[in-house]
Amino acid sequence: MKFFIDTADIDAIRAWQSTGLIDGVTTNPTLAAKAGRAFIPLIEDICACISGPVSAEVTATEAEVMVREARILAGIAPNVAVKVPLTRDGLRACRALSDDGIQVNVTLCFSPAQAILAAKAGAAFVSPFVGRLDDIGARGMELIADVMEIYGNYPAFSTEVIVASVRHPVHVVEAARIGADIATVPPDVLDKMYNHPLTDRGVDAFLADWAGLGQSILDPSNTETRA
Ligand code: E4P
Repeated sequence: MKFFIDTADIDAIRAWQSTGLIDGVTTNPTLAAKAGRAFIPLIEDICACISGPVSAEVTATEAEVMVREARILAGIAPNVAVKVPLTRDGLRACRALSDDGIQVNVTLCFSPAQAILAAKAGAAFVSPFVGRLDDIGARGMELIADVMEIYGNYPAFSTEVIVASVRHPVHVVEAARIGADIATVPPDVLDKMYNHPLTDRGVDAFLADWAGLGQSILDPSNTETRA
């Protein structure tokens, strides 16, 4: 399973990149607005930091204008994946861009029918939003299961499923159980994935016991004694 980080916060991206756990980045206009700086240089900086796909979203609503915006975004770096919304125009733009070899992430997917169309349009990625479905009382993770099952029936579909709108670690675990290709995870949820009170308590207890021994593994005299 690949992990993308779902943020436009360059400091958070750099910090997580250094862990070696992050395979890509997703942004959207809301996240870009939160970053509060010029969009194109922001995407340039993110692409310089992460070698995997970096999603940058168009803001036009008509296919022709989406394609023009997409070409500018794709020109920023070879690892840009252009995000288009799952509308009729977005699907038209996806087909045109994919035919030109540009990676497209079709976003705002809320139904299996939409996901089928994204694959037919040649999308490199489709982003079903689990959290926003949960928010309205639907079962977001059922959409992931449905899309994975449907795509599995058609080996010719090469679209990867990005589980998006992830709100907590259980979303990631459930997505992994289903076998989703990618989860895009906000930095605070990534933090929650490794934090565990029993881990912290265990580390504290081990360190307290070790301190009683009065030794250091880094002390050169330990190595000399062995020799
Ligand atoms: C990622 O591609 C999406 O834009 C993002 O996951 C949306 O998350 P939200 O529903 O928490 O805004």
